[in-house]
Amino acid sequence: MSPGASVPSARVRAGFAAQAHAYERHAALQRAIAWRLARHCRDLPLPAGPAADLGAGSGLLAQALSQQSQSGRGCSWLEGRGLLQLDLCPELLARNPAARRWGGRHWDLEQGLPAELSGAALLCSSFALQWLSRPAVQLEHWCRHLAPGGWLALAVPTAASFPQWRRAAARSGVPFTGLELPGAADLEAVTRRELVVRRQQRLRFSRRHGGGHRFLRQLRALGAGTSPHPPLSAPQLRRLLQHWPTDEPVTWELLLLIGQRSG
Ligand SMILES: C[S@@+](CC[C@H](N)C(=O)[O-])C[C@H]1O[C@@H](n2cnc3c(N)ncnc32)[C@H](O)[C@@H]1O
Repeated sequence: MSPGASVPSARVRAGFAAQAHAYERHAALQRAIAWRLARHCRDLPLPAGPAADLGAGSGLLAQALSQQSQSGRGCSWLEGRGLLQLDLCPELLARNPAARRWGGRHWDLEQGLPAELSGAALLCSSFALQWLSRPAVQLEHWCRHLAPGGWLALAVPTAASFPQWRRAAARSGVPFTGLELPGAADLEAVTRRELVVRRQQRLRFSRRHGGGHRFLRQLRALGAGTSPHPPLSAPQLRRLLQHWPTDEPVTWELLLLIGQRSG
């Protein structure tokens, strides 16, 4: 991602803050991915050290871990250790039950990680890394904060997401105004260099919204509509939507990575 194409943290925060009350209502894909990531995390043999969810938001991943724990499928480490909830947006943290239970930390990940996470046993993150201006650099930094034997568990949307939006923009001659998502290959290369990769998957999800208008409204409803680009004018937006096929679902590519620091 080019450094000029990122969104300042204050704007990212304002976008999520304004919609914090509605986030979970609209976060169906995020909830499904949190559930999947929790399944991969719950049985990990963690070494000593803190565990944290980076960009935890309202706490969907912690909720999934707790639910999987309660349903008897177990999470061997959660009760004893907890999962620190770290996020830029205090309005989301205020709605996060796990932050009250295990601690919430208001923190801007553009600054790297807080000192208390040095030698972490587990750093997990879902749908958050793409908001940082240099995702691959921050990911490398996260990997290096792990204790020997510590784990990284990551889910992040990649640059191969939303080809329908890009095609509609190209056909209508208007700029693509979405967030520039990180390339999967760059993130995979970082984890291969830094960790022993235990799982690496590029997952595709298609969601039917009934056209571009509803898809863009859904992103805004999540608080995730903030863009590094100036908004389209009303005529540009009309042209974009005219070229966006209503019967075609929008596809997301999600990169799932589980890796362990050698120890
Ligand atoms: C789409 S939400 C995902 C939240 C949660 N992980 C989930 O899966 O529901 C993105 C989250 O990343 C957080 N975030 C974005 N930029 C951040 C930054 N620079 N530092 C910390 N958190 C950030 C946002 O505040 C928001 O809670």
